[in-house]
Amino acid sequence: MTSPIRILMCAPDHYDVDYVINPWMEGNIHKSSRDRAVEQWQGLYQILKQHAVVDLVTPQKGVPDMVFTANAGLVLGENVVLSRFLHKERQGEEPFFKEWFEQNGYNVYELPKDLPFEGAGDALLDREGRWLWAGYGFRSELDSHPYLAKWLDIEVLSLRLIDDRFYHLDTCFCPLANGYLLYYPGAFDSYSNRLIEMRVASEKRIAIEEADAVNFACNTVNLEQLVVMNKASDGLKARLNAVGFQVIETPLTEFLKAGGAAKCLTLRVTEPVLADVHANVHVESRIISIQGHLLDSGLINRALDLIVDNGGSFQVLNFNLGEQRQSTSAAEVKVSAPSHEVMESIISYLIDLGAVDLPQDERDAKLEAVPKNGVAPDDFYVSTIYPTEVRINGEWIKVQNQRMDGAIAISHTSEGVVAKCKLLRDLETSESVVVDVLGIRTIRKTESREKRNAEEFSFMSAGVSSERRVELVVEQVAWELRKIRDAGGKVVVSAGPVVIHTGGGEHLSRLVREGYVQALLGGNAIAVHDMEQSILGTSLGVDMKRGVAVRGGHRHHLKVINTIRHHGSIKNAVEAGVIKNGIMYECVKNNVPFVLAGSIRDDGPLPDTEMDLIKAQVKYAEQIKGAEMILMLSSMLHSIGVGNMTPAGVKMVCVDINPAVVTKLSDRGSIESVGVVTDVGLFLSLLVQQLDKLTSPYVEKVG
Ligand code: ARG
Repeated sequence: MTSPIRILMCAPDHYDVDYVINPWMEGNIHKSSRDRAVEQWQGLYQILKQHAVVDLVTPQKGVPDMVFTANAGLVLGENVVLSRFLHKERQGEEPFFKEWFEQNGYNVYELPKDLPFEGAGDALLDREGRWLWAGYGFRSELDSHPYLAKWLDIEVLSLRLIDDRFYHLDTCFCPLANGYLLYYPGAFDSYSNRLIEMRVASEKRIAIEEADAVNFACNTVNLEQLVVMNKASDGLKARLNAVGFQVIETPLTEFLKAGGAAKCLTLRVTEPVLADVHANVHVESRIISIQGHLLDSGLINRALDLIVDNGGSFQVLNFNLGEQRQSTSAAEVKVSAPSHEVMESIISYLIDLGAVDLPQDERDAKLEAVPKNGVAPDDFYVSTIYPTEVRINGEWIKVQNQRMDGAIAISHTSEGVVAKCKLLRDLETSESVVVDVLGIRTIRKTESREKRNAEEFSFMSAGVSSERRVELVVEQVAWELRKIRDAGGKVVVSAGPVVIHTGGGEHLSRLVREGYVQALLGGNAIAVHDMEQSILGTSLGVDMKRGVAVRGGHRHHLKVINTIRHHGSIKNAVEAGVIKNGIMYECVKNNVPFVLAGSIRDDGPLPDTEMDLIKAQVKYAEQIKGAEMILMLSSMLHSIGVGNMTPAGVKMVCVDINPAVVTKLSDRGSIESVGVVTDVGLFLSLLVQQLDKLTSPYVEKVG
């Protein structure tokens, strides 16, 4: 059966750039020449006529983009899905195309109103007929894809476009005969690129560079071994020739001004149906509900952005606006994703924002057995810092030991079902683990605006300069430290040796002595340098008073380590009177527990340093329990380690001269963490001064 290929075109009688709906049209309004456009269109038409039957639809006034017949609809066999244009500028074309399809005997399918889909501009059949590639992101909506699958009875693979110059799939993607694919990878998100690579073998993929892509090299008409396009580089021509394609270039520059070229100007209206190919949709949808100060906290924007940024799409089904300043709003949002995998990642982010399944289709969490001690099932849900609940047998159960980067382990005890955050290594085969993202929610408090602002560090919102920021952080931290101490609360400090090198040792010692610190977390180094300063007056061999290196000073820290080893522990050394001041001294004297976690570079180590890292992590976690505030002073490793163990709700202040460390910790996204980029010695000295200011009036009164 060799019935001819038929192509639909529309002469450019009324073609012009009259408006801007894509980046190519910008600056080109009325800049194209009608004569040249007619000439170029004729050039393409004559070439195609030699290889196919070309049908013509009558051009219409007022719809200049009607020349781009690729956007009329999508044909497969007898059926056509008519386009629903996103922009009102092109919606006027719809009835004319509809009429043409009806007159030519097609079954016409029409999408629901407000569900944009731009025809063969955004949906391209694999040339072997095995499946349909469908684009979304700019013009066509992801939710149109399930309709295509259903009506055309074909598998639909959704690809997300991310570069607005390539707003239609056919501007950057062209399936060719024999399973080849011509495409520009840069136009797609990483998930889509992976999907392409999974479906098309590497020897069949002809990935092009940006220079060819902007000449619309992918906007190609492919008829058997022939490829017709505006322009291709010599390199691209050679690659196409090498795999058996003959390249014909025909200039279409006038149409490039409207953002289209060869393929856009055509619609293949004969597309044979393969008997054994059937519908299959990968697109998934779920309805979630979200509540809170959706507007004034920006929560709804964050949620919707997050859906799109992660490759999904949404429809807001319901929005109940809380009218009073204190009332909360509630929204129901339909989330669509091109696959289950993408859906899972989107939902896990939405869970962090407090989203839940719509009550009527709430489902239990999915559980899977621990396959082996210390190993979670593949698809395990990764825990976050937020208070979490999981739904088991219809009941929401609070997860204990909340921390990030764990798994949620479920065990059945005499008191009932227990859910706990556990590190992978601690999982046991008697437990099961929450997998997927069903039946999981985080509890976000929806306090009034005022209360929320009070819990947040107040300078977080405004545009505060970095110098003023340091002062403000110091003021606020001092205030908090005083409040917590006076209420008998708990502050944990994690600190690195830089505290000593920058002269902060005496200030931190004072904080310990005056009861502002309830536990100290560090490594071997901070303790060694602190005691070196106490015993020998140097820190890593540098005289701390004069700021110069002392002869032979590089051996000082080893001497100190040796001394402490001799005494068996820091505590013993303090009690023997070897150490008379400093941070470690104050810890021992004031019964402030400390944990020193070892590392590969440690000299010694000190007898107190825990070189078994798993034990060190456990000891850190014990000290963090119940903390209200954690001060992280210039130690990337220890600070990040601490951050990972700490649930939301604990105020975290990270001070480091390296902005990368600070960003990493304040990126946790919880409102209570704050970072300051500054010298830690300076920070501590300001903090101590500020505490003095706060306490002196009180002292005077008493005195
Ligand atoms: N100006 C038209 C638009 O922005 C160009 C359409 C090009 N067609 C295509 N299939 N890519 O809609």
